Amino acid sequence: MKIIRVKTNSKNYDIKIGHDLLGSIPLKKLVSRKDVFLITDSKVPEFLINKLKRNLKNSSSKKINSIKINASESNKNMAYLTRVYDFLIRNNYSRDCIIFGVGGGITCDIAGFISSTFLRGVDFVLIPSTLLSQVDASIGGKTGVNHKGFKNMIGTFNQPSQVIVDTKFLKTLSKLEIQCGLMEVIKHGLISDKRFFSWLEKNLRQVLALKPKFLEHAIKRSIEIKAAVVSKDEKEEGLRAILNFGHTFGHALETIGDNKLYSHGEAVALGMLAAVKLSEINSNLEPDAYERVHSIIKKSGIATKLKKKINPKRLIKLMQSDKKKKRNLLRFILLEKLGKAQIMGIANNSKIENAIKNSLFY
Ligand SMILES: NC(=O)c1ccc[n+]([C@@H]2O[C@H](COP(=O)([O-])OP(=O)(O)OC[C@H]3O[C@@H](n4cnc5c(N)ncnc54)[C@H](O)[C@@H]3O)[C@@H](O)[C@H]2O)c1
Repeated sequence: MKIIRVKTNSKNYDIKIGHDLLGSIPLKKLVSRKDVFLITDSKVPEFLINKLKRNLKNSSSKKINSIKINASESNKNMAYLTRVYDFLIRNNYSRDCIIFGVGGGITCDIAGFISSTFLRGVDFVLIPSTLLSQVDASIGGKTGVNHKGFKNMIGTFNQPSQVIVDTKFLKTLSKLEIQCGLMEVIKHGLISDKRFFSWLEKNLRQVLALKPKFLEHAIKRSIEIKAAVVSKDEKEEGLRAILNFGHTFGHALETIGDNKLYSHGEAVALGMLAAVKLSEINSNLEPDAYERVHSIIKKSGIATKLKKKINPKRLIKLMQSDKKKKRNLLRFILLEKLGKAQIMGIANNSKIENAIKNSLFY
């Protein structure tokens, strides 16, 4: 088992990474004499949840209840959460309970949000079950739910007590979900570690095939990169924004596709291509950078062109309504070079239009 210690202003905690951890990982310190509440993704295999429950029981926890989440963006909202709060209240959960979120990014975001708000905050542990949630959504303490079509509009910054990353979950995940998670891994290399990006280019096939040694390295390095950024800027006052590389374009594409046409990972992949193209147009990015990013995304099996043609002006308009926009300037995360990101305001819309056309159009 590998352990990454995350240090933030509000809390220090461990991320534990390994294979088949649920039955054996020590939980006593976290749950002894506490009421436990599990929020689980309905697609996570039942036998894994049962393993965790047995471990919790053996760790002297008090009552254990669980509720299943049907993970979808349309369920990730306050109305859907009401039944979870109701359940906690009906079953007399108090402030010293502990909540476990077991599932993909949606479940982790929901579990984190409920833990932040129920009785003004209770402890929680995240056990991410998709590649995306293992390398991204469970790391860094952002929680959130959607509101009236706006993604993650209501949320908190709140760090968990621990994150348990068990690669055994990935066995039942669809190929597309693995590919989508891989986009965030690639993103971490692009914004912060050129060597890691080159390693991914070389070993992509083994990671996609879930070969343990390669998969663990990709996950661990990815988490280290995100954790380092979060430690420096827990509440996204500056540097943390670099983690949104590809996401400004990506979120707009998800919205244009009504959150159905593109999955998050597919939208981020296209978003990264547009962002690399804009970096090339705007500065002296190395000449082969775009080709390398295009090639790794293509090799991973994710589409590198739009599924449906759009008017770039519409995409720009959508980006302008992004809640993360500062003043009137559209801010992008661009690459200074492979492995180094920078935050830049771009006032010239024609540059953005060119970047979209020259990367995403057939
Ligand atoms: N808080 C953050 O910092 C942060 C960062 C990135 C993304 N997110 C959020 O994460 C969400 C996306 O996460 P995701 O891609 O994990 O999506 P998800 O939670 O929807 O999971 C994807 C699909 O996989 C299923 N699933 C989960 N675990 C499984 C398993 N082990 N086997 C089989 N199927 C399984 C789910 O039921 C779902 O159908 C978005 O809502 C996004 O906003 C949050």
